[in-house]
Amino acid sequence: MQTLDVVVLGAGAAGLMCAIEAGRRGRRVVVLDHAERIGKKILISGGGRCNFTNMNARAENFLSSNPHFAKSALAGFAPAEIIALVEKHVIPYHEKTLGQLFCDRSAQDIVKMLESECAAAGVRIVTRAVIESVKTQSRGAARFVVETSAGGFAAASVVVATGGLSIPKMGATDFGYRLAEQFGLRVVACRPALVPLVLSEDDRVRWCDLSGVSTEVVAAAEVTAGATRATGAKRAVRFREKMLVTHRGLSGPAILQASSYWMPGTAIELDMTPDRVGVVRPLLEKNARRDAGAAVAALRAVLPGRLAERWVAAMPPKGWTNAALEEFERGLHTWRVVPVGTEGYAKAEVTAGGVSTDELHAATMESRKVPGLYFIGEVVDVTGWLGGYNFQWAWASGAAAGRAA
Ligand code: FDA
Repeated sequence: MQTLDVVVLGAGAAGLMCAIEAGRRGRRVVVLDHAERIGKKILISGGGRCNFTNMNARAENFLSSNPHFAKSALAGFAPAEIIALVEKHVIPYHEKTLGQLFCDRSAQDIVKMLESECAAAGVRIVTRAVIESVKTQSRGAARFVVETSAGGFAAASVVVATGGLSIPKMGATDFGYRLAEQFGLRVVACRPALVPLVLSEDDRVRWCDLSGVSTEVVAAAEVTAGATRATGAKRAVRFREKMLVTHRGLSGPAILQASSYWMPGTAIELDMTPDRVGVVRPLLEKNARRDAGAAVAALRAVLPGRLAERWVAAMPPKGWTNAALEEFERGLHTWRVVPVGTEGYAKAEVTAGGVSTDELHAATMESRKVPGLYFIGEVVDVTGWLGGYNFQWAWASGAAAGRAA
């Protein structure tokens, strides 16, 4: 049995940042991971270039049953701090769009940076360590005993950073949620988020042979349940980005963003031609031709050609009257799609839900019920938008715990 101060479970973004902060304080830290290498999700993130933060990250960019919970950690570790670390390691990066920072070369740069900061802080990393049990003991300063395939570790603090359920084939597990329940902590029901949506059979027949076609839309989803607890009122969130037709439904950044808020049975509302009002005006003019060809020509000015043709074929104005044309125009801006599901954890970028924020201290991520037990990163019920926000949460929550554990 080895005795340490802090055992971190999971060598992803959150766990490694936590270990670095704790190690810098002189704490004896070990990070355990069942995978054969550290930071596997970092390596595949951002198309291999890791969108490691978003310069504009604020609590408003996160979903949680408690929309205020993330504020303290986010304020304690701003995007400027991870940028400073990246610059210290002379990693070239660029802003792609909307404050999203990506590595110029490869996500490998970020993993190497974390590895070398761990080494500098005296942190030990043990890979291929299958965690068998986590138990408390009443004797001595080491409140926890962690048994693993790589031996036993006793420590005053255990930090759970085992991530969410997305991409199970990369080693994602429900370990963190089960551990929370073992210690009597509430877990908010999990669901795939930042995930492509699947259309009904009828809609698939109507649209999905256009797979690969994309266009800029505004996707609006209703904010439901927990996310509105602070105000009690229902409201919609809107994302103006690309939408992509897939062979089973819809994807692209606008849809992924909306998917995090989507609940089964509800609709996503799409403005197919944002800012372009009066699309059918040419047909309303005196002596104008009013038929499918004229409607397609008008739509082609604002939509990809194949989508314009399909739209008119699928939803032709009834009778081509003025009222029907106005209705057709309205339909372009308020297309209500009711997905039948999502592509699930296999395709989801993140997991919404997780260890309830009611169970944790916002400044340190420590359990209110079990002193010395911390939860950080994606395993917590805090889920970021697409665009570097999830890594910012991993760094910020990791740093918060690392400064306290
Ligand atoms: P993470 O999942 O990174 O780490 C958990 C660690 O725990 C893993 O190393 C795992 O092996 C280990 N583990 C799990 N169960 C265990 C067990 N039972 N025993 C031992 N170890 C265990 N975000 C973003 O901000 N920008 C981006 O560009 C992207 N891109 C992106 C692409 C793709 C394809 C995906 C799937 C996700 C993203 N994300 C993203 C999301 C981001 O990757 C994610 O939110 C963070 O990696 C979460 O960090 P954590 O450290 O919490 O978990």
